[in-house]
Amino acid sequence: MNAPLRLGVAGLGTVGAALVRLIGRHGNDLAVRTGRPITIAGVAARDRKRDRGIDVSRAAWFGDPVALARDPGSDVFVELIGGADGAAAASVEAAIDAGKHVVTANKALLAARGVELARQAEKKGVSLNFEAAAAGGIPIIKTLRESLAGNTVSRIYGILNGTSNYILTRMEQEGLSFEDCLAAAQKLGYAEADPTFDIGGHDAAHKLALLTAIAFGTEIDAEAIYVEGIAAIRTADIEAADELGYRIKLLGVASRTDSGIEQRVHPAMVPKSSAIARIDGVTNAVAVEADFVGQLVLSGPGAGGEATASSVMSDIADIARGDRVGTFGRPASELEPYRRAAMQTHEGGYYVRLAVYDRPGAFAAIAKRMADKGISLESIVQRRRAPKSAAPEHLVPVEPQPVIMITYETTEAAIRDALDTIRNDGHIAEEPQMIRIEQLG
Ligand code: HSE
Repeated sequence: MNAPLRLGVAGLGTVGAALVRLIGRHGNDLAVRTGRPITIAGVAARDRKRDRGIDVSRAAWFGDPVALARDPGSDVFVELIGGADGAAAASVEAAIDAGKHVVTANKALLAARGVELARQAEKKGVSLNFEAAAAGGIPIIKTLRESLAGNTVSRIYGILNGTSNYILTRMEQEGLSFEDCLAAAQKLGYAEADPTFDIGGHDAAHKLALLTAIAFGTEIDAEAIYVEGIAAIRTADIEAADELGYRIKLLGVASRTDSGIEQRVHPAMVPKSSAIARIDGVTNAVAVEADFVGQLVLSGPGAGGEATASSVMSDIADIARGDRVGTFGRPASELEPYRRAAMQTHEGGYYVRLAVYDRPGAFAAIAKRMADKGISLESIVQRRRAPKSAAPEHLVPVEPQPVIMITYETTEAAIRDALDTIRNDGHIAEEPQMIRIEQLG
């Protein structure tokens, strides 16, 4: 048996503690599978006294993760601190600089500086692995980087945030409030330290940025991603989606278009018959469309300590075996500059919900505004009308009524222009709701 692979684990939160348990439970098997024992030589966390339900008494304790990163007592630095800067960034840099392999679950850091860090790692001849940074326990990084190496990808999309999917599912299936669902997701350890990253779509955007780089062989441009979260989704939309044959999911989508690569994260109406529509709770799913393999859908737990630790361990096992693949599937110098397709050129169908003042002509005026922008309507429905009042008509207040429209394929620019003019006409009582319809195989 070869010499042990010694880990320095920085961060003993949900994922760090699960990794320690995993190594405790599967240490013997891992040694057989990889050909060398895997040991935890050092750990770094803020509070030494906290009871985490794990035994790390045999590992050296570091209050400062940078000191652990530099310590010659470990071969691999496992960064499970999180965050795009601060201790996480400083310690990853220090570890690479010290010539150590790095395994990280830090999507925010990699989305911001992944290519630069990959270059530094290549220069030092070490691995920078991040299977756990996208879609928790789903082995999508390896799949893209290794298993699909013989393909050209045309589109990659999926449910990339477990917290948001958990919230949407419970709202839909149990009629619970947004706030109650979010609190439950936090309690279960799914949400980020700052849950606005989850519900605002930013966590999914970080993951999409990483998947795009591997899938399309481009540099990362997380700023170029159009991001919209789930906070504006109402029960009325969930119910309407159900009646129209859709479900609402927070999707991350990257696709090759004539004007460049489109990257977007937003709630989407997905047909109930699609594989993605059936992904519930904290489960994530990633679909890849590629020339030789066709369509591939992987699904599994997208968050949670054990599932994420499983992915962290797969990266560690690669290092133990001596398997090295470029961080983004090719040398960092071979990544092409990212060519962005503007969101305004996005083409697709749209769901629109308006609160329309129930006045003669309002309906027709709205339909005309859509037609003026070349938008063809598949359907327009006034959902319900308040019961007739016994009072004389001129004394009855004009109550807004929900009107739901489904458009045929149009552009983002056209629908936005149309909704601007409808808003200015004064027929609607509140901001229009607009949800993109995603055509899925
Ligand atoms: N907060 C993330 C999620 C954790 O809910 O998906 C996994 O990245």
